[in-house]
Amino acid sequence: MTKRLLQDQKERFESLKTPFYYYDTDLLAETLSAIKCETDKHEGWHLHYAVKACANPKVLRQIQQAGFGADCVSGGEIRTCLENGFPAGEIVFAGVGKADWEIELALEAGIQYFNVESIPELEVIAEIATRMNKIANVSFRINPDVGAHTHSHITTGLAENKFGIAKEDMLHVIQVAKGLPSVRFVGLHFHIGSQILQMDDFEALCYRINELQDELEAADITEVHNINVGGGLGIDYDNPDENPIPDFKSYFETYAKHLKLRPGQRLHFELGRAVVGQCGSLITRCLYIKQAKQKQFVIVDAGMTDLMRPALYGAKHHIQNLSVGQQTTDDGQQTAVKYDIVGPICESSDTFAKDFLLPETRRGDLLAIRSAGAYGETMASQYNCRELPQAYTTAEI
Ligand code: LLP
Repeated sequence: MTKRLLQDQKERFESLKTPFYYYDTDLLAETLSAIKCETDKHEGWHLHYAVKACANPKVLRQIQQAGFGADCVSGGEIRTCLENGFPAGEIVFAGVGKADWEIELALEAGIQYFNVESIPELEVIAEIATRMNKIANVSFRINPDVGAHTHSHITTGLAENKFGIAKEDMLHVIQVAKGLPSVRFVGLHFHIGSQILQMDDFEALCYRINELQDELEAADITEVHNINVGGGLGIDYDNPDENPIPDFKSYFETYAKHLKLRPGQRLHFELGRAVVGQCGSLITRCLYIKQAKQKQFVIVDAGMTDLMRPALYGAKHHIQNLSVGQQTTDDGQQTAVKYDIVGPICESSDTFAKDFLLPETRRGDLLAIRSAGAYGETMASQYNCRELPQAYTTAEI
């Protein structure tokens, strides 16, 4: 692939009001074809993009046009997907707390299937489907009790997490579903967490699914048409230019090698971060340099309201000064100053990076907070009565 540097876009950014998200749609296109290249090797493998990562309409359309389906977790996401060209039959709907109106919306639209997380939820779906004279396709989200090497806030597949149905209850819930005439049982769903870089974690999930499939076979349950393994593949936050495209080969090969599918079973993936993470940057301007007693601060006009991840998870994003690039001394050494890079919000946690090395930075410089395409714009808020950040794609500026 050709290496595009964000630095080269600087002139085009100058006239735009900051902060804003910038989505490199060329990189997105390359990422989507890298995924397709792996999934197309296998019959019945399909990716439902996890919309929660980035629901920007232009990004969504591009993903849809590349042939992916959608994984939604709210009625709002289902609506957004329908408005942006996803056929209802390519949408799956997950989440522990689906409201009645969201279930109605999904049934009305005719989505592919619900990922159901409890018996009370199954009963409500059945009741609403009966009332609407519809059949609801349901897949059960099973909690595999598999740990993942990632931040504790974003692991989901442990027995202590609120997600899914205990694996010991799997046969029981399937029997309950089979007794409900307005419900059709179609498969199983799993998700162990997010920002996972160790393939062993996905391998452990494969072994667990294999065990569960043996149990189903022994119980003569043959309707498991879809195995949905969720998402979770991580990205390189430290080196976005060196690794703009995640390691899809290792990820998909792990499933190809370790997961034993039954004849005719479809395998669904729900990647979010790995699809859009590296193509987005939050572009912000330096408002002030503040010299405090022990620290020097770069105060930028983006805040935790625009990108919540550092405040919420202590997440580290690479930051780049686009205005000065790499400064070097006469003998070619890089010059750098240690800064805390902070936003304007009235919270100490409004900090993007501590003791971060940047070339000497001045008021007015443009900075890029990298790898912000996933869980950036979608998690923005209006705290402090701030405006939501604008967003642009490559073609628009
Ligand atoms: N499927 C399910 C059921 C999920 O819960 C998630 C993410 C995904 C798929 C997509 O996972 P991904 O491929 O993006 O790892 N806000 C956090 C991440 C929360 C992830 C929630 N679930 C962050 O900024 O790191």
